[in-house]
Amino acid sequence: MGKTVNVATTGTGCSGSDLRVDGERFRANFEALARFGQTADGGVHRPAFSPAHLQARRWFHEQAERAGLEVWVDGAGNHSAQLRSDRAAVRTLLLGSHLDSVPNGGRFDGALGVLCALEVLQTVQQSGISLDVNLEAIDFTDEEGAYVGLLGSRALAGTLRPEDLESSPGNHEAFIDALEQSGLTKASILSASRAPTLLAGYLEVHIEQGPRLAGSGIDIGIVTSMVGITRYRLRFLGRADHAGTTPMRARRDASQGASAFALVARDMVMQEYRGCAVNVGNMAFEPGVFNVVPAAVDVSLEFRSPDDEQLQRLESALVKQAYEQAKHFGLELQVERMEAIAPAPMSAAVQRTIEASSQALGLKHKSLPSGAGHDAQSLATLCPTGMIFVPSVGGHSHSPEELTHWKDCVNGANVLLHSVLRMVGFEQAS
Ligand code: HGY
Ligand code: MN
Ligand code: MN
Repeated sequence: MGKTVNVATTGTGCSGSDLRVDGERFRANFEALARFGQTADGGVHRPAFSPAHLQARRWFHEQAERAGLEVWVDGAGNHSAQLRSDRAAVRTLLLGSHLDSVPNGGRFDGALGVLCALEVLQTVQQSGISLDVNLEAIDFTDEEGAYVGLLGSRALAGTLRPEDLESSPGNHEAFIDALEQSGLTKASILSASRAPTLLAGYLEVHIEQGPRLAGSGIDIGIVTSMVGITRYRLRFLGRADHAGTTPMRARRDASQGASAFALVARDMVMQEYRGCAVNVGNMAFEPGVFNVVPAAVDVSLEFRSPDDEQLQRLESALVKQAYEQAKHFGLELQVERMEAIAPAPMSAAVQRTIEASSQALGLKHKSLPSGAGHDAQSLATLCPTGMIFVPSVGGHSHSPEELTHWKDCVNGANVLLHSVLRMVGFEQAS
């Protein structure tokens, strides 16, 4: 990472436009947080509810308390820190992201957004300026879907349904244990929703996780919309047989149907579904040994599109292909739809606010859709919502190679700060 740009904050009575985050404090927090679940190759391993994840969340609360912010945990396990308005404000402007990671993930995904939020609260607090909204930094539970994707943000938005908690793609018993250990229940999760009238909006800073910004020298991405994501578990069922003595033609080999499906799915998306993505993230073979023809293969299938209608067409086409490949190899197929998260447009007004803030800070910006899912897509149905992207070096993410230059992290935090001030009318008025 490049050298830290530490820009001093201004004191009481500042005009707002001169205000900048404290780059040194921000970076020290980033380095401290990255130690929870750190891996030998420079990444982090912090799946939701793992010991490292719980430690990271505790650390976030400790930092916030030390800064004099109010902290609490809601029924979905979301961790909040609040800078309360001294004007007895009713509404709250939420800023956040998530502290969980994918297995062996990177240090920036999610963590950066939570730290930007904390940094903005501290910067506003120390500036002495008075806003007529409460500012809340929030760390959402299980964004990555170790158990239930976007669990915390969907619970807060009131869109999580009881059945979503039953059909979690992650191990259900482990999920129940994890909830118990954190003092949460399914009922508490479902009661964590907030009324839209209490929210002034939601803003999230995130690394782009793709190559578009870094590749074209752009400082800030303004997210226009977010992909919809659908997940299935497909179980190809054949027959276990001796791997040496069973004639090749007589086999009902589950691996053949599963593998053929993965290849056909890729070709189909590349040729007929531009702008979409498909991923076979896992195949589990049973019994999974050298000398037995696989009797069953469980396939974890995920696909994405920015367009709802296209996502539905893709879903039908993929399921049809799965049945055709199963039939071709003499297999049976069990199909289970695990999760579906709808595409979400970001608020046009918030996009304009982020654009104005980027411009005022002299940063090059570009509007772009997000191919990744984010907590912001849960909030989009609840309140005015926007996302600020910063460049990912090489476009790498969900791996230890994830990297964003430090100056870009600071830019993201400053754009968040000024977007907050604009959203609450402070910057225009001052
Ligand atoms: O999977 C995603 O798109 C996100 O990074 N959670
Ligand atoms: Mn992620
Ligand atoms: Mn993320």
